[in-house]
Amino acid sequence: MEFLKICVLKRNACSMACFWRSHIIQNPSIRKICTTSPRCTVMPAWVIDKYGKNEVLRFTKNMMIPIIHYPNEVIIKVHAASVNPIDVNMRSGYGATALNMKRDPLHIKTKGGEFPLTLGRDVSGVVMECGLDVKYFKPGDEVWAAVPPWKQGTLSEFVVVGGNEVSLKPRSLTHTQAASLPYVALTAWSAINKIGGLDDKNCLGKRILILGASGGVGTFAIQVLKAWNAHVTAVCSQDASELVRKLGADDIIDYRSGNMEEQLSSLELFDFILDNVGGTTETWALKFLKKWSGATYVTLVTPFLLNMDRLGIADGMLQTGVTMGSKALKHFWQGVHYRWAFFMASGSYLDDIAKLVDEGKIQPVIEKTFPFSQVPEAFLKMERGHARGKTVINVI
Ligand SMILES: NC(=O)c1ccc[n+]([C@@H]2O[C@H](COP(=O)([O-])OP(=O)(O)OC[C@H]3O[C@@H](n4cnc5c(N)ncnc54)[C@H](OP(=O)(O)O)[C@@H]3O)[C@@H](O)[C@H]2O)c1
Repeated sequence: MEFLKICVLKRNACSMACFWRSHIIQNPSIRKICTTSPRCTVMPAWVIDKYGKNEVLRFTKNMMIPIIHYPNEVIIKVHAASVNPIDVNMRSGYGATALNMKRDPLHIKTKGGEFPLTLGRDVSGVVMECGLDVKYFKPGDEVWAAVPPWKQGTLSEFVVVGGNEVSLKPRSLTHTQAASLPYVALTAWSAINKIGGLDDKNCLGKRILILGASGGVGTFAIQVLKAWNAHVTAVCSQDASELVRKLGADDIIDYRSGNMEEQLSSLELFDFILDNVGGTTETWALKFLKKWSGATYVTLVTPFLLNMDRLGIADGMLQTGVTMGSKALKHFWQGVHYRWAFFMASGSYLDDIAKLVDEGKIQPVIEKTFPFSQVPEAFLKMERGHARGKTVINVI
């Protein structure tokens, strides 16, 4: 009630609404009143109740509508979402150990299980409610965001996101187009800019190699590096070469037609390699970097979460530290930098990305769009691999 008094004093109708909704949902006696109109507390969503194959995806009309628990949070009505490899992996239980440790019991039930769990990381939609501390957004704003994997996902009618994870949607994009970008764009941004140190001022003349150029991350990475005037060599399958050429790639290598190392040997060395493929690539890729010039190899495919799934939190972190440290050190002595990169949720990076989009320097690359009723089909498509850009879900 103290909180309500403060809301009244501040004449903050939005927070009062949040308070009341929270109060109604958490107080069974009041909720009883509300069950006469179930639409006020529940929403449609795709959830999982256990980890497994695609059959575990379940559509429900009765997922609790999320509520604002912290003053910096925003509720977004989801217009479009997308599917990324992490959704398929999380459906199968990938990362559960570490993600459960990070999950907030106020938002996701963790005692006795994290289920029902909503997948989907990208959202483009409209702000419905804002917490007291949210200054930059108001109800009605069209926004986009990528939600961290320890939070409830976006394959639902509403999602709660931290205010610092949200950004105003690029004006030039529809919600469907906008939902294709945040997760892959922020991951590429983290690898290229935050870890790789590349930006619009230092890319001119730099030679970049992108392994796995035709998927979600790759198609964004080509465009941002070309916008910053780098020279981009894209590695992809032959049938994707036209797509990556259109996005601006200067040189294209078909990894299926012959030996990769032989093909790369005929080219000049590189200043930066972005590896979206993983596996054995790091056993040969780093020799194509210029030595002793600050050249960097960054991979997005790391054993970080898998180590914790296999070994538990403490041993998994120890194993990760040892693996990363020893690889970085080994390559450092050979004159190049070896790094891992991870997705970073950030509204301010999305602001920078929205600017590039509205300037026409980045185009969304959407391979297929599914209606909300066909989320399992979208997961199957993602699972089959060979993405050519993104798979998007129209939620409304
Ligand atoms: N560390 C993180 O936080 C983070 C965040 C996001 C993504 N990731 C990881 O980064 C990787 C890329 O993500 P994404 O969203 O871009 O995936 P995606 O959309 O599924 O794209 C992967 C692309 O790589 C191509 N490919 C597969 N094998 C290849 C090879 N040997 N050489 C060149 N291209 C190859 C695939 O097409 P073809 O098979 O037809 O060639 C596909 O176009 C995934 O493994 C994902 O899990 C990590």
